[in-house]
Amino acid sequence: MEEKLKLLFSKVQIEEAVTRLALQISRDYEGKRPLLIGVLKGAFVFLADLIRKLTIPVEVDFVRLSSYGLGSESSGQVKFTKELETEIEGKDVIVVEDIIDTGLSLKVLIEALKARKPKSLRVCCLLDKKFRRTIPIEVDYVGFEIEQGFVVGYGIDYAEKYRELPEIYVVEGKS
Ligand code: IMP
Ligand code: MG
Repeated sequence: MEEKLKLLFSKVQIEEAVTRLALQISRDYEGKRPLLIGVLKGAFVFLADLIRKLTIPVEVDFVRLSSYGLGSESSGQVKFTKELETEIEGKDVIVVEDIIDTGLSLKVLIEALKARKPKSLRVCCLLDKKFRRTIPIEVDYVGFEIEQGFVVGYGIDYAEKYRELPEIYVVEGKS
């Protein structure tokens, strides 16, 4: 079945947001070399654009989390399906996420990372569905706050579709 997509953020809007985030991060981490941890798969396009706009050097690693069960709702259980390859103790770490929804997957990730004693730990996300949060989480860098709806494009999928779209769309009729 083909979904109906409605444009939410254009290429220009996305670029502006990514540029702003990169500026903030570059300023905050001046003289440092933070480790950016991209959360697969959704954050890979965002992370790729973000690091190219930074004016500071960084390291990059990835993790993959998976919630059990299919569908767009987090099922409440999360596991690592791809582990970090970098030792993070004593490092300045920034988690880079595509979307924060309930906050559940990020909460699990943050707890796991904190246990490894990074020097500092911050979170950068492109899209924040703030009103959907069921777990309070501090997000340090936010691209866009969005109200509701299921979004795709710019690395973000619906059932593995639409990651290749350069803009961000809302899937019509899907909450
Ligand atoms: P949370 O644990 O509920 O915060 O779920 C966050 C994760 O669910 C995000 O990192 C996405 O991978 C996925 N997700 C949440 N909302 C959407 C959406 O609108 N489109 C695509 N994926 C989403
Ligand atoms: Mg994600």
